Amino acid sequence: MFRDQKVGAIIVAAGSGERMGGIDKIFAPLGGVTVLEHTVQVFEKSPYIDFITVVLRKDNLEHGMSLLCPKNISKLTSICQGGMRRQDSTLAGLNALPQCQWVLVHDGARPLLDQGIILDGLEAAQETGAAAAAVPVTDTIKRTDEDGCVKETLQRQSLWAAQTPQVFRFDLIEAGFRHATDSVTDDVALVEALGIRVKLFNGSYDNIKLTTPTDLVLAQALCQQKGN
Ligand code: CTP
Ligand code: MG
Repeated sequence: MFRDQKVGAIIVAAGSGERMGGIDKIFAPLGGVTVLEHTVQVFEKSPYIDFITVVLRKDNLEHGMSLLCPKNISKLTSICQGGMRRQDSTLAGLNALPQCQWVLVHDGARPLLDQGIILDGLEAAQETGAAAAAVPVTDTIKRTDEDGCVKETLQRQSLWAAQTPQVFRFDLIEAGFRHATDSVTDDVALVEALGIRVKLFNGSYDNIKLTTPTDLVLAQALCQQKGN
C-alpha cells in the first residue's frame, strides 16, 4: 500500500529522564542491548519504514553514535541533536529526514512496540492524515480543585492514554509546526490545533514508556517473556 510513498521514522530520545532518578533510560540495558538500540531495531526491521532519524541530547550524541553506527542500520539516515522541549526534538528530527510523504514519531523510551503497530498506524492515518496509538485508561480519572479535592469524576468510556507511534502526512506535521504557538506534550496536539481530526488506533498495554524505575523492571520482564 505504501510502496510508492516514502515513510520516515523520527525516534525522539533527547529528554533528560528526570523521573527515572539518575539512570540514563535511553542507554539502560534491555534484552542484551540498550533501550535505544531496541527501539531503533523495530523500525529497521519494518518493511514499511524507509528512513530513520534518531534525536539525542547533545551530551549523548557521541555515545549514541558509538552504539548505533557500528550496527550498520541501513535505514538510519541521521542522528541529530534535540531541543529543550519534546516538540523541539521532533522538529529537529523532521528537518533531518530525507523527503518523505509519511512520518512516524516514536518515543525512544518506548522500546516494546511490536511490528503490527507500525502498519496499523499508517493505515489509521490514511483517513485524516494523522493518527495516534492509544489505549483505554484503566484507572478512574478525577479532576480536582485548587484544594486537591475532587471536583469531577470523568466518564472512563471516552478516555484514552495516548502512546506513540504517532503518524502524520508530512505536509500536516510541517503545517502543525509552522503554526505552533503552545508547548504540547505529544505531537498530534500540533495538528489537533489546526483543526485536523486525529484518528486513534489501538496501541498496546505492553507498549509502555519508560518513565520511572518501576517501568524499567517491567520492561525487562516483558522483554524476557517475549523472548528477546
Ligand atoms: N524527549 C526528547 N526531547 C525532549 C524531551 C523528551 O526527545 N526535550 C523524548 C524522550 O527522550 C523520550 C520521549 O521524548 O523518549 C518521551 O518523553 P519522557 O518520557 O518525558 O522522557 P524525558 O523527558 O527524558 O523524561 P522526564 O520527563 O522524566 O525528564
Ligand atoms: Mg519529559
